[in-house]
Amino acid sequence: MSVTGPQLLVAMDFNDINDCLALARQLDPQSCRLKIGKELFTTAGPAVVESVQKLGFDVFLDLKFHDIPNTVAGAVKAAANMGVWMVNVHASGGQRMMEAARESLVLFSHKPLLIAVTVLTSMDQSDLNGIGITETPEAMVARLASLAKLSGMDGVVCSALEAGAMKVQQGADFLTITPGIRPASTEAGDQRRVVTPEQAIANGSDFIVVGRPITQAEDPAAACAQIVNSIQ
Ligand code: C5P
Repeated sequence: MSVTGPQLLVAMDFNDINDCLALARQLDPQSCRLKIGKELFTTAGPAVVESVQKLGFDVFLDLKFHDIPNTVAGAVKAAANMGVWMVNVHASGGQRMMEAARESLVLFSHKPLLIAVTVLTSMDQSDLNGIGITETPEAMVARLASLAKLSGMDGVVCSALEAGAMKVQQGADFLTITPGIRPASTEAGDQRRVVTPEQAIANGSDFIVVGRPITQAEDPAAACAQIVNSIQ
């Protein structure tokens, strides 16, 4: 799959539609796309998606669907009806769930990219043990990425540190969307294994997800432009 358009996805982690729109108006849809997650979508609903689309932005609807196949298929279809550019599901929902999600897009001429979450980066070995999984997080990521590919997903969310290995394992066309990005000059905050935008792209990230270094910047437009320049 060829990657076209902006590779920078700005995480709009707000709990108020007005804060989201105030920031979106300062950004350029030619330079970035917007990621809308659970907090903002639960607060503001489809109206926020429509509002930023009207400003010209592509939307990654980051709701990480995980449910029975029929329900996830319906949710993915609803996302496609909203005209989102990318949507995601949990690979741990299984092959039939992912295939149902893929199947739900068959009749759409403009299909959203369908991305899988493998293992949440907040989960370590002891968390996995707690839910009865004895393999390492790395082994589980690789196993679920293979299952996601087999089930027709377009790619996965992963660490930029894993993007190169992901491309080797799953092929260059399998998309990698990587959070945990910090320009060299900014605070890591609660992110642990951070990678600069340049390094992430060099490692094989197709899209980088950046939140606070842009949303909390004094000049978000300048912060965005600096990142875009660094990856061109
Ligand atoms: O502000 P920051 O750049 O850390 O935001 C990163 C975004 O990516 C947040 O929306 C966060 O929920 C999301 N994310 C992440 N790590 C993952 C998956 C998603 O940081 N493994």
